[in-house]
Amino acid sequence: MRFLSAKRRHRAARPLLLIMALFLLGVVYAGFAPAGKSNADQTNTTAVQAGKELFAVGCSSCHGLNAEGTSQGPSLVGVGAAAVDFQVGTGRMPMAAPGQQFPRKDNTYTDAEIEQLAAYVSSLGPGPGIPAPEAYSPDGLTEREIAIGGELFRTNCSACHNVEGLSGALPNGRHAPTLKGVDNKHIYEALRTGPQQMPVFSKQSLTDDEVRSIIGYLNNIHNEPNHGGWSLGGLGPVQDGFWVFFGGIAVLIIFATWIASKGARAK
Ligand code: HEC
Ligand code: HEC
Repeated sequence: MRFLSAKRRHRAARPLLLIMALFLLGVVYAGFAPAGKSNADQTNTTAVQAGKELFAVGCSSCHGLNAEGTSQGPSLVGVGAAAVDFQVGTGRMPMAAPGQQFPRKDNTYTDAEIEQLAAYVSSLGPGPGIPAPEAYSPDGLTEREIAIGGELFRTNCSACHNVEGLSGALPNGRHAPTLKGVDNKHIYEALRTGPQQMPVFSKQSLTDDEVRSIIGYLNNIHNEPNHGGWSLGGLGPVQDGFWVFFGGIAVLIIFATWIASKGARAK
C-alpha cells in the first residue's frame, strides 16, 4: 500500500514540476530580459496615443484626422517633431483662422502636451527631431565664434530679418518677424524646419556649431544695453547718413527762409 501511493504521488508530481519550472522560467524572463525596453516602448506608445487624441481635437479640422492634410492645412507626415515643437511652442499653431500670416501668440498647450503632439507627428514619418540643449546652447562660445555667427547671419538671414535681427518686410504684405526674445531652441527649430517663406537650413548648409554661433550672435546683440538716442534701424552707414543729410538740409531750409524773411522786412 505504502509503496503504491508513493508511486502515484510521484507520477502526478512530474507534470506538476514541469509546470512549475515553466512558470518560474516565465517569471525570471519577464523579470529580467526585456523589462527596460518594453517600458520605454510603452511610454512612447502612450505619448503617441495621447498626442493623437489632442491632435483630433485641436488640429485635425485643418490637417486631417491622420495629419494627411486638407484644403485648410498641409499634410504633416514627415515634418518632424521639431516643426511641431516650433509651431505650437511659439503659439503659431493651432491657427485661429486661415490667414496670410500666423503670428506668434501665447501658446495654449503645456510642454507635456506639445511633447505628445510631437511624438504623434513624428510617428507618422521621419523628420527633424527636437534638439538637445547642446545643439543650440550658446554657452562657452568664444568672441571669435560669435563674430563668425554675425557674418553667417548677415550672409544667410539679414536679407529678410534685417541686420539687427529685428523685423523686415517681405513681398505680398508679409514680413519676417523680429528675432528679439525668441527662445534659443525655437531659433534652432526655425532654421531646421523653415516656416512659411523661410528656407530650410539643413545640417549640410549650416552645421550645428554654425547655428550655435548665430544664436550666440543674436543673444549678444539683443542683450546689449541700449545707449539711448534714436534708433535708425541700424540699416548701415549709407542709409543712416542719408537721414542725417535729410535732417540737416531741413534745418538749413528753415534757417534760409528765416533769413530771407528778416531781409524782406529790412527793405
Ligand atoms: C485653422 C487651421 C489650422 C489649425 C487648427 C492648425 N493648423 Fe497647423 N497649419 C495650418 C496651415 C494653413 C499651415 C501652413 C502654414 C504655412 O503656410 O507654412 C500649418 C502648418 C503647420 C505646421 C508646419 C508644417 C511644416 O511644413 O513645417 C505644423 C507642424 C502644424 N501646422 C501643426 C499643427 C498642430 C500640431 C495643430 C494643433 C495643435 C495645428 N497645426 C492646428 C493650419 C492649421
Ligand atoms: C526668405 C526670407 C527669410 C530668410 C532668408 C530667413 N528667414 Fe527666418 N523667417 C522668415 C519668415 C517669413 C518667418 C515667419 C514664419 C512664420 O511666421 O511662420 C521667419 C521666422 C523666423 C524665426 C521665428 C521667429 C519667431 O517669431 O518665432 C526665426 C527664429 C528665424 N526666422 C530665424 C532665421 C535665421 C537665424 C535665419 C538665417 C539663418 C533666417 N531666419 C533666414 C523669413 C526668412
